[in-house]
Parts: sequence; structure tokens; C-alpha cells
Amino acid sequence: MSILNVEQPAVGGERIAPKLHTRVPSHATRVSLLSADGLCKSYNADKPIFSNICLDVKEGETVALIGSNGAGKSTLLKCLIGVLPNNGGEISIFGSGFSKAPSAKQAKQIRSDIGFVFQKHSLVARATALTNVVHGLLGRPGSWRGWHHALAQNTWREAALDALDSVNLAHKANERVDQLSGGQAQRVAIARALVRKPKLFIADEPAASLDPKSGHEVMQRFVDLAKKNNITLMFTSHDMQHALQYADRVIALKSGSVFLDQNSIDLTPADLKAVFDG
Ligand SMILES: Nc1ncnc2c1ncn2[C@@H]1O[C@H](COP(=O)(O)OP(=O)(O)OP(=O)(O)O)[C@@H](O)[C@H]1O
Ligand SMILES: [Mg+2]
Repeated sequence: MSILNVEQPAVGGERIAPKLHTRVPSHATRVSLLSADGLCKSYNADKPIFSNICLDVKEGETVALIGSNGAGKSTLLKCLIGVLPNNGGEISIFGSGFSKAPSAKQAKQIRSDIGFVFQKHSLVARATALTNVVHGLLGRPGSWRGWHHALAQNTWREAALDALDSVNLAHKANERVDQLSGGQAQRVAIARALVRKPKLFIADEPAASLDPKSGHEVMQRFVDLAKKNNITLMFTSHDMQHALQYADRVIALKSGSVFLDQNSIDLTPADLKAVFDG
């Protein structure tokens, strides 16, 4: 269980001071980018996954979503961005509201402002890093050319190279993704998300398949890029050290509700342990 990864002080109730925190968040003054009010979801009528979820993510904020396996983290992410319909409540994203599900037009607009990164990065293994990053621009006008970077418009190739440079992989642009390490492949996935110039990064366990060192490198780079480009980041993780070190705020799901929603600098090991107890 990854909660053991937290550097535990001798006494459970002491404050953790995550080493890499250099800022004290002051979200009260920031604009809301994504909020949910009374959100409910069930796949089957008899068993709700969660109900009455209320949360508010501010522009530029980095939020970790934690909870046990099956707590509903991935489901919540999908509902928040309208990929899955919900069963009640209101969502507001990028200043536009919907209940149940976004309209087709809204859904398209929402998708175009989001960069996605997943545990299984869903890159095209036999294509080069550059082609994969160009794929991030599919859906934009002129998309058919994006299937291979050689056909892509110069502006797309340049944007993709810039994004690869941002994750320090410009020198790997022409290498096939299946010849890269797991950490490098995940950085390509981040570049593919970044090239879209999103307002929001949605990342479901972005570092879960990586060894501890690569996992920290990927998360550090991801958060740095998000902060530098003022992109809001919401990520799920089972690694409590990642949640504390890289997120401004931690939201925990437990038993179908928000169990905890706090600035990470205010969290104790006991707070986190309670998320997974019982
Ligand atoms: N398409 C689906 N149809 C029916 N039930 C589903 C579906 N997807 C997920 N579930 C159920 O919803 C619950 C929450 O799943 P979800 O994947 O959101 O949890 P999670 O917190 O992301 O878990 P993990 O940490 O393992 O990724 C689980 O009980 C799961 O079995
Ligand atoms: Mg999940």
C-alpha cells in the first residue's frame, strides 16, 4: 500500500512538510475552473459509486485525487469532464455549466481544452515520439494530415517539437516509442497533452507504471510544466508522497463521498491513513 511511502514522523499527528513545496497556495482569490455541486453517479441503479460530491478547482491549481481501489476516482474524473453522464448534480467547467451530460457542442469544446495523460499512456508504440505528439493535435482543423508527422503542417511539427523539448526529449523525436523507457514514454504522453495548449491536464495515475525515481522525475516535470504554463492539473495517485509533494491540494474519496479536501501542506500522515482505513 503506497501510504507507506509517506515519510512518517514518529508521532502520527505531526504535520508533514513536503520537501518540494515552495509556495503557500492562496486559492481563495483565484477563479474557479472546474466545480461540482451535488454530483452523483451510479452505473447500476442499486449501487451509487458516489453521491453529493462538491468540489471546486481553481485556475492554475494542482489537485491530487486519492482513495482506495474502486473508490470512484476515475469515474469522478470522467464525470467532471462530461465523458461519462452523471445521475444528478451540476458541473461547471471552463465557465460553462451542465447537468447530466454536456451537449455535443459543449463536449467538443471541453475536450479541446483538456490534455489527457493516463497510466497506460496509449501512445502508438510503433510510431515515433514526434508522430505521437502530433497526434495530440488531431481533432483540430486539418486533422487528417496529423496521422504521420511527415504529412503534418509545419506549424504542427514545430509545436510538437517544442512540446518534446519541454519534456527534454527533442533528441528522441525520431525514435519509436516502443524503443523508449517507460519514463520517457510517459514524458511523450505529457508532450502530447501539452501540445494541445490545454487549460486543464487530466491525469489518471500518470506515474503508476514507473519506478520510484522515474515516477518522481515525471511528476516533477509535469507539475513544473503545468505551473509554468498556468495549466490546472488534476491527477489521481496511489502514491501518497506524490500527492503531498506535487499537489497544492488533496481531495480524497471514501465510501462514495469527499472524505477530505485540504491543502497538502496542512495534511498529516494520520489524515491520509484515515482515507484508507476501514
Ligand atoms: N463501466 C463500468 N460499469 C460498471 N461499473 C463500473 C464501471 N467502471 C467502473 N465501475 C465500478 O465503479 C467503481 C469505481 O471504479 P473506478 O474505476 O472509478 O475506481 P478508482 O477509484 O479509479 O479505482 P482504482 O484506484 O482501482 O483505479 C468500481 O466498483 C468499479 O467496479
Ligand atoms: Mg482508477
